Amino acid sequence: MKQYKKYAAPYWYAFILGPILMLVEVAGEVLMPKLLANIINVGINYQGGEATGKGISYIVSMGGGMIALALVMMVGGIGGAFFAFTAATNFANDLRKDLFFKVQSFSFANVDRFSTGSLVTRLTNDVTQLQNLIAEGLRMLLRAPGMLIGALIMAITMNARLALVVLCVIPVLVLVVGIVMKLAFPRFTGMQKQLDRVNSNIQENLTNVRVVKSFTRENYEQEGFARENSALRDRAVSAMKLMITLLPIVTFIMNFTTLSIVWFGGKQVLNTTMEVGDLTAFINYVEQILMSLMMLSMVLLNSSRAMASSDRIMEILNTEVDLTDENAKHKDLLVKEGKIEFSHVYFKYYKDNEEWVLSDLNFTVEPGQTLGIIGSTGSGKTSLVSLIPRLYDVDQGPNGEGKVLVDGVDVRDYSLKNLRSQIAMVLQKNILFSGTIEENLLWGNESASHEEVEEVAKAARAHDFIQGFPQGYDTELGQGGVNVSGGQKQRLCIARALLNQPKILILDDSTSAVDTATEARIRESFHKELAGTTKIIIAQRISSVEDADKILVLDDGKIAGIGSSQELLQTCKAYAEIYDSQIDRKEGLA
Ligand SMILES: Nc1ncnc2c1ncn2[C@@H]1O[C@H](COP(=O)(O)OP(=O)(O)O)[C@@H](O)[C@H]1O
Ligand SMILES: [Mg+2]
Repeated sequence: MKQYKKYAAPYWYAFILGPILMLVEVAGEVLMPKLLANIINVGINYQGGEATGKGISYIVSMGGGMIALALVMMVGGIGGAFFAFTAATNFANDLRKDLFFKVQSFSFANVDRFSTGSLVTRLTNDVTQLQNLIAEGLRMLLRAPGMLIGALIMAITMNARLALVVLCVIPVLVLVVGIVMKLAFPRFTGMQKQLDRVNSNIQENLTNVRVVKSFTRENYEQEGFARENSALRDRAVSAMKLMITLLPIVTFIMNFTTLSIVWFGGKQVLNTTMEVGDLTAFINYVEQILMSLMMLSMVLLNSSRAMASSDRIMEILNTEVDLTDENAKHKDLLVKEGKIEFSHVYFKYYKDNEEWVLSDLNFTVEPGQTLGIIGSTGSGKTSLVSLIPRLYDVDQGPNGEGKVLVDGVDVRDYSLKNLRSQIAMVLQKNILFSGTIEENLLWGNESASHEEVEEVAKAARAHDFIQGFPQGYDTELGQGGVNVSGGQKQRLCIARALLNQPKILILDDSTSAVDTATEARIRESFHKELAGTTKIIIAQRISSVEDADKILVLDDGKIAGIGSSQELLQTCKAYAEIYDSQIDRKEGLA
């Protein structure tokens, strides 16, 4: 609750005016039957077949009062609803914005823990649940209790004996509503959880729709979705069944109460201990009392749903970002050379796992050098390079503190911004955004000129195919870059990384979809134009790394060999095997 205060604070006036204006409406609602009773009792006073009351002028003046009251109520009702919605939407708006910022600040490890689908549900549906509760709550907060108390007081002062009937009915109603709600709470919470599953399912399938199709898994996926979706329906139906029974039961209780009032009240009227107008008003009050109880229970029910959502929102807000630069010793230091050093580096994703993903890595890459990394899938190549821009942090190894150093300084001592701004990484799963090609390339450096953009595109061998598009650099890319080929996408991602003229460039299997000839030309332009940049190239093909200054052979998170291709052929059996298999194949083809 405390955490929500800051989202409500700027709109305090709406949070206060909303309920107060609703109270104006309630006051009118409670007075209205009294005025009506006056018209019947005093104005008409129909007795023995004859109207003996004060007549038309009294009726007109009371009627005028009712119209005036109705106008005031309208202002109160509209104003109350307006401020309630103002408060709720602004609250939700700020909260959603904060959640988004928070998720942006998440480390990779943080993101790993939530699924994307679940994050989307939390930022949309869960926030909406909270927003609805606030809008409803603000309108009902004073309205329902106000109506309950106001109508009770009016009823008791009007006819205390008859009010006893109502006092008997209230506990029955409270009991019925209580039982229904107790049964409904868990069903609504379950419904929310299931909605989460459906959303995750949709999210995963839509983002990967191509993979699903290429494996012709549509049927399987449809079945899976249908299953989750039906489960959602079943849960919604089971929750609704309860709510559906509630209304007729309450209506029955209401009708029964009205009947009792007419029965007992009617007798009093016949005995002339009660006036006809009062009986009419009394029935109105009873309805108001029972209605307000209903409203209260509905708010309670919705609040239980919103509480489940609130927990899920809090989970995001309370997630500790486990990778920050708060303790960095040299916040202003920039990466100038690009020297990389791994010293006794150990790393794993799940801290309570026994196995290390990377163990005891020691090596150095001098500024401007090229390091090739080769190794089977799952050997830890991506994990290794992730440690350099601190996408993950090194762990405490068995023999002391491991370190990743850039220019001789622990990466944890740079500010994240300074560190990452000098390290360009082309991820294995590279992503382009919707927008033009030029806009996408400018991600690397917003202030670059068009000439600079063309230059890096040429270096990444992307310029020619970009020129081939009718719109050239202004070609719109679909979401994720769907309308370019895999190899073209990789080259655009490389160009984007080059635009910042980074001190360190990391390519994680980034030319796998580019043909060998084009790849050779890209390497050639790296050699010429990125002479001062330290380059790390992860690849499957020996040819991609063969001419690197050093090649690191990774096997199961350990260094199996490091050196030039020539040296490794002599010293590293694993490398020699890969080399032979690939070179043999080449010769076989020739
Ligand atoms: N985000 C992650 N969370 C948990 N485990 C991971 C994650 N990424 C990779 N791994 C695991 O770490 C090991 C090394 O993976 P990775 O570095 O991606 O290998 P490579 O890039 O050589 O194929 C694998 O066993 C993989 O399953
Ligand atoms: Mg990888």
